[in-house]
Amino acid sequence: MIDFQNVLDEIHNDLKLEKERGLIATYIPELKKQSNTSFGIYLNTISGENFYVGDWNLKFSIQSISKVLALSKAITFENKNIWKRVDVEPSGNPFNQLSLLELENGIPRNPLINTGAIVIADILVTHLKNPKEDFLNYVRHISGDQSINYNLEVAASEQKTGFNNYAAANLLKSYNNLNNDVDIVLDFYFHQCALEMNCKQLSNAFYLFANKGKCLNNNQHLTSSQVKRINAIMLTCGFYDEAGEFAFEVGLPGKSGVGGGIVALLPNDFVIVTWSPGLNPKGNSLIGMQALEKFTTKTNRSIF
Ligand code: DON
Repeated sequence: MIDFQNVLDEIHNDLKLEKERGLIATYIPELKKQSNTSFGIYLNTISGENFYVGDWNLKFSIQSISKVLALSKAITFENKNIWKRVDVEPSGNPFNQLSLLELENGIPRNPLINTGAIVIADILVTHLKNPKEDFLNYVRHISGDQSINYNLEVAASEQKTGFNNYAAANLLKSYNNLNNDVDIVLDFYFHQCALEMNCKQLSNAFYLFANKGKCLNNNQHLTSSQVKRINAIMLTCGFYDEAGEFAFEVGLPGKSGVGGGIVALLPNDFVIVTWSPGLNPKGNSLIGMQALEKFTTKTNRSIF
C-alpha cells in the first residue's frame, strides 16, 4: 500500500521553497493579484479516499481547465456532430495561436485551444436556455458543491483585455463556424474561464473522467466511450505545445489553466489537482508540472 499522504507531504516539502516558480499571468489583469508562493495539492481516489497538502483549500481561477467541463457538457448535446466543427489533433502551438485557423479554413485543431473552446462555447450558448446559469449548475452538480461560482471581476477583466479572443471569435465567424453573436459567445466563454474553485472542488469536478462518466454522487453524466475520448484529448492536447512534455514527464491525461491549476487523472484510480500560480513559458504551472512528475514517479502510477 502506498502512503499517499506521505508522498504528497514529501513533494510539497521538496517544492515549497523552490526559488524558480515561474511567472504569474498578467494578460488578464485580475490574475496579477495572486501570490507566487501559493502551492496546494489534492488527491481523490476512486476508492473514496482524499489526501491534501498546502493551499489546497484556497480558491483560484480555473481558466482553461474549464474547457474540459464545457466540452463534456457540449458532447451530451451534439455528440459526434461536434467533430465536424472542431478537430482532435494536437496543435503543437500556443493556446492563443490564430494563424493555423486560417490555414485550416476555420476548423480549430482541437477543443482545448482557445479557438476550439470558443466553438464549444458557441454550442453551449445554442443549447442551454440560460447558458451561464445552466453551465454553473452543471459544474456544481458534477462536483456535488453548490458553493462554486464565477469570479465576476476576473470575467470582466478578461472581457476588457481579451483582444486575441475577440479576433479568434471573429475569424471563426468569418468561416461560418460560429452560430451566435461574437459578444454573446465570448461573454459565456469569459465567465466559464472565470470559474473559481479550490483544489478539492476541482478534483471532485473531474472525478467523473476517472470513473467512466459517473460523478461523485453516482449519477451517470457521460458514457464510458465519451470519457475515453475526452481523456484522449486531454492527453494529446491538454498542455498545448507542451502536451508531449507532460505525457513524457507525468504520463497522465490532464489539463492546465493560466490561473496555475493543473488537473490530471488515472482512469479507474485517482484524480489529482495541483495549484501554483507561476507559469512556465508555455503557460503551464511550473511547480505543478514538477509536482506531478514527482507524484507519478514516486507512486509508479501512470497510464504507461
Ligand atoms: O482565453 C484565455 O486566454 C484564458 N481565458 C484561458 C487561457 C488558459 O488558461 C490557457 N492555459 N494554460
